Amino acid sequence: MKVGVFDSGIGGLTVVKSLLEHQLFEEIIYFGDTARVPYGVKDKNTIVRYSLEALEFFKNFEIDLLITACNTVSAYALEEMRAQAPFDVIGVVEPGIIATKNALTNSDANVLVLGTQATIASKAYETLLAAKGFNNTTAKATGLFVPIIEEGLFTGEILESTMEHYFKDLDHPDGIILGCTHFPLIADAIVDYFNNNVILIHSGEAIVEYLETHYEFTQKHHEPKIKFFASENPEALRKVAHNWLDLPDEK
Ligand code: DGL
Repeated sequence: MKVGVFDSGIGGLTVVKSLLEHQLFEEIIYFGDTARVPYGVKDKNTIVRYSLEALEFFKNFEIDLLITACNTVSAYALEEMRAQAPFDVIGVVEPGIIATKNALTNSDANVLVLGTQATIASKAYETLLAAKGFNNTTAKATGLFVPIIEEGLFTGEILESTMEHYFKDLDHPDGIILGCTHFPLIADAIVDYFNNNVILIHSGEAIVEYLETHYEFTQKHHEPKIKFFASENPEALRKVAHNWLDLPDEK
């Protein structure tokens, strides 16, 4: 199977990391819209328009499936993309909800959803959580984490004070949905902030769980072919990809 992975920028590489760890695909085509990131501060019309343009790009490859790793795209543009795609399009919100339900068996659990301004404004996670019986949900836009992570500050004073700024008035959550591609990179810091006593839901792991239940994978692919594309400075994205994904050399 050949899969496309779409993100607004580099963050979707966290989802690629999970796909690689589970060796599900023979070929991965990644596109990050680095010229127009961030999507998380834009309105629905713009997010949908950019996502449909990305879809056109993926039509140039014979992919079997497109994963929108970006939570913002998944929250706003999935329906429109599906209507125009000749292949399946899977977002990260629904898999994230299923993973939450599997991880937190008690629906009274206190769930904290973190995401960009746009993802939180869409109420996509809260609506689906409520449909599964989870009504004790708090959603918080934590967009400042995005540039902090892009700056590589996965630990330290700036991250600590930003967490304090966002989290200090919240009740201790039982589970946190990392509803943004970037946030798995600060997962350790978040767990630490909540005294190692919280369950995190990661889009990459959630999507793998979802794929394994909905598709049939007959063999493992140890060395998939990966191609990285970006709308601006693809070299920079390839460099980060090789670094984050620990790839030996250009594949
Ligand atoms: N990829 C985006 C998301 O997961 C975060 C970065 C952005 O705002 O574009 O929502």
